Amino acid sequence: MGKKIFISLVYVLLIGFCIAGLLSYVTIKSTYYKVVEDKLISNAYLVGELVSKRIEAHGFDGLNDYVNSIKTYDEVRITVINSQGEVVADTEEDISVMDNHKDRPEVKKALQGLESLESRYSNTINADYLYFALPIKSNEDGSIIAVRLSMALREINLIIKNYLFDLFIAFVMGLNVALIIGFILSKKIATPLTKITQMSGEIAKGNFDIKLNIKDDDEIGKLAYTINHMSQQIQYYISGLNTKNKEMEAILSSVASGIIAINKEQKILFINENAKKLLHIDDEELAGKDLIYVLRSHRIHEYLNNEVMNGEYREIEFTLNYPEEKIIRLYKNPIKERDGSNTIGTIIVLQDVTHVRKLERIRSEFVANVSHELKTPLTSIKGFIETLKEGAIKDEETALRFLDIVYNEAERLVELIDGILTLSELEGKKGKETKERIELSTAIDEVIPLFKSKAENKGVTIMKDVSDKIGYINGSKDRFKQMIINLIDNAVKYSKEGGKVTIRGYLENNTKVISVEDNGIGIPEEDLPRIFERFYRVDKSRSRNERSGSGLGLSIVKHIAQNMGAEITVESKIGKGTKFIIRFPHEKGEP
Ligand SMILES: Nc1ncnc2c1ncn2[C@@H]1O[C@H](COP(=O)(O)OP(=O)(O)OP(=O)(O)O)[C@@H](O)[C@H]1O
Ligand SMILES: [Mg+2]
Repeated sequence: MGKKIFISLVYVLLIGFCIAGLLSYVTIKSTYYKVVEDKLISNAYLVGELVSKRIEAHGFDGLNDYVNSIKTYDEVRITVINSQGEVVADTEEDISVMDNHKDRPEVKKALQGLESLESRYSNTINADYLYFALPIKSNEDGSIIAVRLSMALREINLIIKNYLFDLFIAFVMGLNVALIIGFILSKKIATPLTKITQMSGEIAKGNFDIKLNIKDDDEIGKLAYTINHMSQQIQYYISGLNTKNKEMEAILSSVASGIIAINKEQKILFINENAKKLLHIDDEELAGKDLIYVLRSHRIHEYLNNEVMNGEYREIEFTLNYPEEKIIRLYKNPIKERDGSNTIGTIIVLQDVTHVRKLERIRSEFVANVSHELKTPLTSIKGFIETLKEGAIKDEETALRFLDIVYNEAERLVELIDGILTLSELEGKKGKETKERIELSTAIDEVIPLFKSKAENKGVTIMKDVSDKIGYINGSKDRFKQMIINLIDNAVKYSKEGGKVTIRGYLENNTKVISVEDNGIGIPEEDLPRIFERFYRVDKSRSRNERSGSGLGLSIVKHIAQNMGAEITVESKIGKGTKFIIRFPHEKGEP
């Protein structure tokens, strides 16, 4: 930039100096000529006057010497020519050898009575000459005599040459000074411009912290001020936009659903954290990537490519298999421009419906199970009553046996319905049950006698080994007892003849633990994860034969434990026995 300005300046200076030099040369030359001319003419008048007087007094006699005596300037030559053109006096040459001058233009004019000024090249002297001739009258015969003064122009040319040399020196010096000043000036102009260029570059890169420090009062100063102001404005708008963007992102991130915005080319414009979590994507930067990068299903892309008809919401569900099975519901909605004319992209909303679908499955399985469980005893009741009606009632013994069965089946139905009601009650009251102080040892003492006859019948011994330090817990006492009843019931039921059931209570690292252990038939390992499910029985045929329960007992235990904040685990070995362990949470205010 500075270089360009400097070069232009050099051109301008050179042209300026040349024009100035030429003009001054022409002016000086003409001025000098004028001065010389004036000097010659005024001298000529004086000489003419003197010569005229001399001739008047002495005629031509001694005129030559006289003329020499009045010559004031060395460089001026005086010549006197009579009316015939003969030279009668001359300050330079011997008049006897001089030729006739009547044809010299200035002499010719003077002899005709006119003054004239001529300049021409003299071969004798080899130089330009300036001549001025004027007529004077001879009073002898009244003829006209020409007095001519001449001067070599060599002097003038020399002076002009010297002048030109001086001019050249001045020109060179002036040019140097001008160049130095020009260099400083161009730097002064270029430096702020360079700064402005750099600053514009920084603004383009998004760096708004730099300020131009140019305080000049000229156009550049104003430009710098405008750029500073502009940079401030851009920064202000950008930070405004950023804040808006962040707010928007915060809003979209806090939405519980996964949200992905894509443009028409299916490139991601925005994806919130929930969507990343749902789809198991760790990448930080997804904007600009293809949607296929995050949603690989072909079906989804087909769905997205289909136009949404009349703005209706259509949704699809798809299953993610890796790293865990997830059912995701997806629906799309077009993103329209503000005036609603153009569609610029699509918003995809993702929802994890795995849990909902699982609950739905459990519920429908539950309904199927309940119907099945109800149907079995009812069918059996109906069957026996029919048999009774058809005549069996007449055989008293058979009739009593059948009625016993009908009674037992009816009881089973009642138990089943009780169990279902308990479960639904437990589900409805999660953590909302009235709390009371449950002295653990006492509560267990109240439960054991309930199994006295059942255990005796089977030859099973029930033992209690509860530490004195175990203390109490807070919760529903009835529920706690029901939990222990269900566990002892199982322990007795799945014990062999002469088996042993032990109920323990102890502190394990300050945690209160109750366990119910038997040395009965045990539970196969593969069934362990499922025994807490509703209606789940390990060996359905076995349970049936023993006129056992519905498979709701452990499910109720688990619900009660959960409602109390306790954790229940099971350890079992087939043929060796089973142990259920319940760990209660710390009570508030306890060590
Ligand atoms: N102590 C145990 N020893 C061996 N198997 C057990 C024991 N406790 C439970 N089971 C197995 O777990 C299954 C589920 O037990 P759960 O108490 O839920 O149902 P149930 O005893 O069959 O019926 P209900 O308790 O409703 O009368 C039982 O059918 C049984 O197979
Ligand atoms: Mg049971």
